[in-house]
Amino acid sequence: MKTLIVYQTKTDAAKECAEIINQKLSNCKLEKIEKVNKNVIEEYDLIIIGSGIRFSRMYSKTRKFLKKNKNELLNKKLAIYACNMLDETFSDAIKKSVPDELLENAIIIESFGGKQPFKKYTDNSWLKEENLNMFIDKINAL
Ligand SMILES: Cc1cc2nc3c(=O)[nH]c(=O)nc-3n(C[C@H](O)[C@H](O)[C@H](O)COP(=O)(O)O)c2cc1C
Repeated sequence: MKTLIVYQTKTDAAKECAEIINQKLSNCKLEKIEKVNKNVIEEYDLIIIGSGIRFSRMYSKTRKFLKKNKNELLNKKLAIYACNMLDETFSDAIKKSVPDELLENAIIIESFGGKQPFKKYTDNSWLKEENLNMFIDKINAL
């Protein structure tokens, strides 16, 4: 299955997750969200979209991308992840960021944890590896 990972990041958590997913899936490519348009989406079977969350929303380019490409994404297999710190506001942030039809269409929507602001990390201690592995398993089972 031809897979594209589209991500937006400010402090690299969503990028690092994209890289891990990319290593564990075959026939997979990753791109920054700015580089992806409708024509690019058309080339793939599965689109994985990942973004950081700030102020209870996925990043702005991600929200715009989801709205603008909604119809194309509805014709694809879709998986969504976010990098965020607060479990309790994750669902709300996703609802505010992802159009309803895409929420229904998504195979999986998962939080992978996030980096604490202003903290420098030399390891993956912020990452919820269990969630990331579950996400990858679900995709590999398609
Ligand atoms: C200014 C700011 C606001 C944030 N707001 C939220 C928030 O509302 N909810 C949350 O769960 N995490 C919040 N976070 C934590 C980020 O989601 C976390 O740093 C994550 O790693 C960002 O993804 P990125 O590293 O891919 O940019 C915030 C971080 C910053 C710096």
